[in-house]
Amino acid sequence: MKLADFSAIHLPAVENEMLAFLDEYTSDEKLKESMVYSIRAGGKRIRPLLLLATVASFEEVINTTVYQVAAALEMVHTYSLIHDDLPAMDNDDLRRGKPTNHKIYGEALAILAGDGLLTGAFQLISMTHLANSPKLLLLQQLAVSAGTQGMVAGQAADIEGETKQLALEELAFIHERKTGRLIHYALLAGGVLADQPEEVVGELQQLARHLGLAFQIRDDLLDVISTTEELGKTAGKDAEMEKNTYPRLLGIEKTKTALKAEITSANEIIERLEQTVYSFKGQLLRQLVQQFDI
Ligand code: IPE
Ligand code: IPE
Ligand code: MG
Ligand code: MG
Ligand code: MG
Repeated sequence: MKLADFSAIHLPAVENEMLAFLDEYTSDEKLKESMVYSIRAGGKRIRPLLLLATVASFEEVINTTVYQVAAALEMVHTYSLIHDDLPAMDNDDLRRGKPTNHKIYGEALAILAGDGLLTGAFQLISMTHLANSPKLLLLQQLAVSAGTQGMVAGQAADIEGETKQLALEELAFIHERKTGRLIHYALLAGGVLADQPEEVVGELQQLARHLGLAFQIRDDLLDVISTTEELGKTAGKDAEMEKNTYPRLLGIEKTKTALKAEITSANEIIERLEQTVYSFKGQLLRQLVQQFDI
């Protein structure tokens, strides 16, 4: 199936899960409005797509539970963007082609919208009809991925790094945490929801490691070579904030090479999965990996 068709079939259900959850379980209208604003602003939905595509790759049915876990992941991601844009962090005015959440609702409500999306994600997974064991695993791994070993730790290191010149390995470690871990969760959750054994989930995690790093390398690159209109967020912001990025450390050409290397490794793992796991079909994930290229 073409990725565009797959997205058209499944993403509306993920949107519905996010919006229905926020509508039903938020008891402050302004808070609800600010969360819905950032969710509705759009975004590429790459993390839910990776999760759904992983489940579909094992010829598993995509049911409401899968949509709910994908919705929870996108809620955590959207929270991370709202907080990332705050004046105390990256201080951005534009996100997903629209004014950032705090520009519309003020900093206090933007912080609370992030808090609400984060905690709501756990509430939503807890409400799924999964058996207790996979449910607990998905909740625990979301905490690990988003939290103080994962995205939050990466964001802290990213901010602390603003005043320093980092080595490439240190930068890669930041990228793996601030961006890689939520992408990692997408594949892990997909493997768990498709009821795959540990070895297969292990392979998916290897794949996710390459994708996570590739995604942030690409994001760093686009900040330099793309435009504000194309990105829907302010281009050139990393240099202004003196961020450590791949282009700053390596230059544009070597950054492109590093990106290609991660993409090649990702495709190799997809091929290996096709050869070793009878039920696995890599066509959707392969199309998604292509989106990580520039
Ligand atoms: C932006 O993520 C922040 C990073 C982790 C690089 P996306 O590029 O997935 O943002 P949206 O969801 O499409 O807006
Ligand atoms: C953000 O990285 C990663 C997050 C956890 C949100 P960036 O700060 O580079 O993301 P953009 O460029 O603002 O989307
Ligand atoms: Mg940032
Ligand atoms: Mg930012
Ligand atoms: Mg960026």
